[in-house]
Amino acid sequence: MRVDHLSLTNFRNFVRLETALPAGALILAGANAQGKTSLLEALYLFTSAASPFADSDRQVINFLAMREAQPVARLLAEVRNRRGPVRLEVRLLFEPLAGGEVRFRKEVLINGVRRKPAELAAHFNAVLFLPQELRVVEGAPAERRRHVDELLAQVDSHYVAALSDYQRVLTQRNALLRQLQERGGEAGQLDFWDEQLAASGATISLARSLALAELERTAQPVHRRLTRQTEALQLAYRPSIDPAAPEADRGNGALQRELPLPVAVDRGRFALEDYRLLFAQRLRDSRSDSIARGTTLCGPHRDEWRLLINGIDLGTYGSRGQARTGLLALKLAEVEWIRARVGEWPVLLLDEVLSELDRTRRADLLEHLGSAEQAVLTTSDPEMLPASFRSQAPTWRLEAGTLRPE
Ligand SMILES: Nc1ncnc2c1ncn2[C@@H]1O[C@H](COP(=O)(O)OP(=O)(O)O)[C@@H](O)[C@H]1O
Ligand SMILES: [Mg+2]
Repeated sequence: MRVDHLSLTNFRNFVRLETALPAGALILAGANAQGKTSLLEALYLFTSAASPFADSDRQVINFLAMREAQPVARLLAEVRNRRGPVRLEVRLLFEPLAGGEVRFRKEVLINGVRRKPAELAAHFNAVLFLPQELRVVEGAPAERRRHVDELLAQVDSHYVAALSDYQRVLTQRNALLRQLQERGGEAGQLDFWDEQLAASGATISLARSLALAELERTAQPVHRRLTRQTEALQLAYRPSIDPAAPEADRGNGALQRELPLPVAVDRGRFALEDYRLLFAQRLRDSRSDSIARGTTLCGPHRDEWRLLINGIDLGTYGSRGQARTGLLALKLAEVEWIRARVGEWPVLLLDEVLSELDRTRRADLLEHLGSAEQAVLTTSDPEMLPASFRSQAPTWRLEAGTLRPE
């Protein structure tokens, strides 16, 4: 798939941008602060109407437009996927409410018809390579959960629904737990929420387990090639609710993290019902602890997964270089994974990632880009790219929010 035409209004530093985009690889050159990252962010927004930069959805509206009575950022893409052309529109806006309040809202239109943001992914997929994504390897578990959630959201609308159900029920269950903690009451009131939590939670755990196993299988040969067969990558899923280790966690969460779980756990034999029953049982077992702590102690919101190299935790013990290589193998595997799931190439968006890679890894990545239907890569220094690549891919220059072929 590819984006043939992009139009931005009041998005970041683009007051107005109207441009065709070529198929194949495009080098987007420009000095700092000209809008290179913002342009990739704009393209990525067509996957889910959510900015890849956590919590920054409302910051994308152009500063000057924010002074208007109804600030709105408008993004429009003419996309071509294997089913044909489709017109995607995302609007992020503040609307005035009575009493001087404002409300932030998103609108999505597909071929001019209002749709849910989650429906975008059925028409457009992209994989974004960002230097700051190293935090997926080195950062807190929430970063890794978010990463795999975002990936799954691109191919599985049921997953998106389960995730939003889960969040909603978890919030309500936690509110009830706090109430029981403070004022006491009938613990049986939890039954209703437990049942719903177990259902959506099981969908999440199963999907994450399958996705991570598939990603691992895809990433391993890529990683072996990148490290010239010297290192073996593993993605170790450590679900809070784990049918492969049903005794591991009695609900206090902390216990499981300390257990040296075997890395290569095959959870392929477990079905949705196994996860659901186990989760329901855990919720029952941990009920009195949960009331005492006023929060839900087990479930996918406590899941963890780690990248391991030769059996050693990359986030804790790996070098910077190893972490970058592990992440690159993971991202390339994500491209393959989406491609296998949706039956065509996602659009590849690479933000200044080449400068961090050594020559072999850079060559490997560029080779990958060569076969994608569309890839946009930003750089402040196109000279850094191999001449062979630059002779194939056009360079466009971005200056103060305007784009022109060089
Ligand atoms: N909401 C906004 N309105 C206007 N300008 C913005 C907004 N958000 C960010 N910017 C500015 O846009 C410019 C481009 O940022 P960025 O896309 O990161 O540039 P680059 O990747 O080329 O270095 C920066 O100067 C940044 O401060
Ligand atoms: Mg940038």
